[in-house]
Parts: sequence; C-alpha cells; structure tokens
Amino acid sequence: MRILFVCLGNICRSPTAEGVFRRRLADAGLSEVVEVDSCGTGGWHIGKAPDARAQAAARQRGVDVSQLRARQLDAADFARFDYLLAMDDDNLASLEAMRPDDCTAHVGLLLDFAGEPGRAVPDPYYGGEQGFDEVFALVERAADGLIEHLRQRLEHVQ
Ligand code: 4NP
Repeated sequence: MRILFVCLGNICRSPTAEGVFRRRLADAGLSEVVEVDSCGTGGWHIGKAPDARAQAAARQRGVDVSQLRARQLDAADFARFDYLLAMDDDNLASLEAMRPDDCTAHVGLLLDFAGEPGRAVPDPYYGGEQGFDEVFALVERAADGLIEHLRQRLEHVQ
C-alpha cells in the first residue's frame, strides 16, 4: 500500500504529514506494508528541506522531518500510489486536473480521514508559527483515522 501526501510547496504541510504518518505506522507495526511519500503541486522548492518552522513544530513533538527533500507531483505518481491525499481544495483540484482517466487510486482530502469531510489543512507559509502547530495537530488527527482505515483494508485483503 502506498500513500502520497500532497500540498503546494512540499515544504510545510505534506512533509509534516509524511513525518507524522511514518511514525504512526511504525507505532502500529505497519511500516513494512505501507509506504509513504509527499510532494508539492508546485515546483518552486524542489530539493529543499522542510521550512524551518515546520521542522521546529515537528521536532517539538518528537518527529524529525529534517532529512526530507521537496519534489513536485509527477504523472507517474497516479499509478504508483494507492492514495493521493491533498491538504486543501486547490491541491485537490491540481490532482484532479492531472489525474489520468485510468487511475484507480483514491484521490481526496487528507482530513476526510479525520472525520471532517471537506475541511482543509490551512496553508501556514505566510502566517506565524502558530499555523504550523495547527497543521501538526490536524495531521495527527487524520493519522488516527487513516491508520484505522488502512488496518481494515489490509485485513480485508489478507
Ligand atoms: P506547503 O506551504 O504547500 O504546505 O508546503 C507552502 C510553501 C511554499 C509556498 C506556499 C505554500 N510558496 O508560495 O512558495
């Protein structure tokens, strides 16, 4: 099972989601069966480490995202990943615009898995540090729901 978290720049929200979810998978003993990655719909920050504020917010809660590097969404991602999870409606629209007709992956909003359908993880880039704490908290909530969803799906498959 492969999951891709998608935001605009791949330096704030989606690397936070990748870091949090990677740790949750390890805690749940699912690291071997679920692979995670993140990317941005835009290409401005390709090759960059996560924003210092995102790194700090994650580090304060025991998640190290310092080694991640930004990359841009690629057409091949629609075949490679089973779930492409957008942070907000703009990211989702970009995904839908690029999605091939034969794509069978789940393409949707991350917070649908937090029991908050339609809600976005707000872009924290132009705001203060508090926005990064909010991103972390929202992503953690979605991680619980997503892990539970994947558990059920994996049981069904096995
Ligand atoms: P992200 O945040 O999509 O959560 O990584 C942003 C990062 C950079 C920009 C916008 C949002 N930017 O305009 O450069």
